Amino acid sequence: MKILVIGSGGREHALAWKIAQSPRVTKVVVAPGNGGIRRSFEYADVGTDDIDGLVSLAEGGGFDLVVVGPEGPLVQGLADALTEKGIRVFGPSRGAAEIEGSKRFAKEFMARHGIPTAAFDAAVSPEAARKIVRRFGPPVVVKADGLAAGKGVVVAGTLAEADAAIETMMVEKAFGNAADCVVIEECLRGREASFMAVSDGMSILPLETAQDHKRVGDGDTGPNTGGMGAFSPAPGIGRALFEEVQETVLRKAVAGLRKEGRPFRGVLYAGLMLTADGPRVLEFNARFGDPETQPVLMRLESDLVDLMEAAVDGNLSRAKAEWKSDTAVCVVAAAKGYPARPETGQAIEGLDEAARWPQTVVFHGGTRLAGGRIVTSGGRVLGVTSLGRDLAEARRRAYGAMAEIRYDGMHYRRDIGLLSQGEAR
Ligand code: AMP
Ligand code: GLY
Repeated sequence: MKILVIGSGGREHALAWKIAQSPRVTKVVVAPGNGGIRRSFEYADVGTDDIDGLVSLAEGGGFDLVVVGPEGPLVQGLADALTEKGIRVFGPSRGAAEIEGSKRFAKEFMARHGIPTAAFDAAVSPEAARKIVRRFGPPVVVKADGLAAGKGVVVAGTLAEADAAIETMMVEKAFGNAADCVVIEECLRGREASFMAVSDGMSILPLETAQDHKRVGDGDTGPNTGGMGAFSPAPGIGRALFEEVQETVLRKAVAGLRKEGRPFRGVLYAGLMLTADGPRVLEFNARFGDPETQPVLMRLESDLVDLMEAAVDGNLSRAKAEWKSDTAVCVVAAAKGYPARPETGQAIEGLDEAARWPQTVVFHGGTRLAGGRIVTSGGRVLGVTSLGRDLAEARRRAYGAMAEIRYDGMHYRRDIGLLSQGEAR
């Protein structure tokens, strides 16, 4: 099989790495990839927002399956365009991807189908938004309706912070049209966990859980990011809670989308807050999580391509996934200035030494090749991911490997896998 992977982050590096292990796969091409991906795989220089270019690439290259990593092209209708040409694609249609593309749609969808989530209201003017935050009272959460690269959410501790978020999003238009509408939510407390499941539109195949660390600083301090690290399995999730989430969140969402004429084929991701009153959905994503995918795929024993094909062909109810009992930890190394203003172009040293640590893979997120060297090119530069018999061993390996790596302005959290402040509350 020839497989085309679309995307350029750590998640796509992990997808290509895992797909290439399938004995059925003869060739993996990544478009556009990044420096690290391009060192290991064939690539095509077509960007993720060039839908026509990606369709021509998939058509011309004779690919047996296209795997779409990021949400952008899904929300723009890449899966629909490929399906129209008869090309098999792992990733949902534009209609199904709206569960991620519009937070308002997602919240109203959850309300329609009784999926547990935070109380909310939506506003299309700053005045209306200011009224709603006063009705909820602080702390309160302000979210841009549309896609904002994981940065369109502000957890405001005071009304002043909520007003400032409304100003940035709706008046200064920091995210362009993505915040023409904002969703305002009650602030939930608890531990977060990421659940992912493969779906063929009818049934689901749950993946192992993971916990992401969203804030930039140790102890959950500083602004939200796309994710500074993740580990799998997420702690404290027994059989009963796992089943409850499959039933009340993922199966319900897949059934609801099907009923609404938007069957979901791909990976459905639910970001949850495990509150004292039970699990609540913070967000749905229409794709694999980044960085959750890196530790989760390191633990997958089964052939990922088999699972993806079963989803595309509607045979998922017969598929089964085998997992390593090990723990996996992924620590993200970020660029100087991330998340506000990442600086790029810094030469990276020590990658080969890091890769020599046992059970460790250095996935590249924001790198490029410059004159034969790997340099930084984005905010989340690397995801150093290690397996261990337990969390302590996985952490020792990931941090040991990380200590081999150097570039100007490099920073990473030291507490990936440990309890954070939010959990102590
Ligand atoms: P989202 O992109 O909607 O998952 O939001 C990003 C992050 O903001 C989440 O991972 C949480 O840490 C935080 N967050 C979002 N919604 C809420 C909420 N209702 N209450 C508390 N924290 C939230
Ligand atoms: N790590 C969170 C996400 O992929 O959206």
